[in-house]
Amino acid sequence: MTVRTAAGEALRLENVRKVHGTGDGKVDALAGVSVALPAGSFTAVMGPSGSGKSTLLQCAAGLDTPTGGRVFVDGAELAGRNEAALTRFRRSRIGFVFQQLNLLPTLDVLQNVTLPLKLAGRRVDTAHAVETLRRVGLGDRLHRMPAELSGGQRQRVAIARALVARPPVLFADEPTGALDTRSAREVLGLLRETVRAHGRTVVMVTHDPVAAAHADAVLFLADGRLVGRLAAPTAEAVAERMTHLGDDAEVQRARTGA
Ligand SMILES: Nc1ncnc2c1ncn2[C@@H]1O[C@H](COP(=O)(O)OP(=O)(O)OP(=O)(O)O)[C@@H](O)[C@H]1O
Ligand SMILES: [Mg+2]
Repeated sequence: MTVRTAAGEALRLENVRKVHGTGDGKVDALAGVSVALPAGSFTAVMGPSGSGKSTLLQCAAGLDTPTGGRVFVDGAELAGRNEAALTRFRRSRIGFVFQQLNLLPTLDVLQNVTLPLKLAGRRVDTAHAVETLRRVGLGDRLHRMPAELSGGQRQRVAIARALVARPPVLFADEPTGALDTRSAREVLGLLRETVRAHGRTVVMVTHDPVAAAHADAVLFLADGRLVGRLAAPTAEAVAERMTHLGDDAEVQRARTGA
């Protein structure tokens, strides 16, 4: 039986650990992360390169298996399912925008965006897909192939693809990383809207304090540990916090004796 958590909780991590590699190459990418995010919240995750942000998202989305701890998405625990059941669960509940976008090169933009719906055996709402592509500024690129697009355009296709599936929980790894200011603002507006208007939950990794300021709260990660949280963030407050993250990690290490 699948273990469930309290209603209204979109994501719960309990002491999640992840060790990458073996022997001398062993890396504690996540050193015990616990967090609970309510449904209908928009959370940014920040931290230095290598601090474990992508690993955190991959484990939370069931794309990677934690070395220890427990993960609950949309109230249900990820562990204890076979691969097919996990895939079904992901397709119905979880959206993901990767750091490396995996668009299929042989499908055009619109086909890439509607593919997950087809794979999940769901009705394809082409008008909604076209409207979402229009919102991310690709209304005139529906039938281009991925190879004919810029990096930022490809990133927007991946975002449209994730939104069109209307997942209750959406994870986005640096979704605005390759975008100019205006496109980034559009994408952040769309993410906000998916939270505000549709009650979905978004967890977004970003290096940009301005992007993070669009979220309800920012979680700070350093050396695989959560070292801080900032509610109602402003870009200034986030930038200020980022400059002291290294110090926070030191304090945390001293406290835990790690
Ligand atoms: N597949 C892997 N095998 C071995 N080590 C890995 C693997 N993936 C990540 N790591 C290591 O785990 C740590 C955390 O990596 P992760 O990709 O989660 O960082 P990140 O915070 O997303 O960094 P960035 O901001 O550069 O994307 C790093 O030290 C990284 O080198
Ligand atoms: Mg990363």
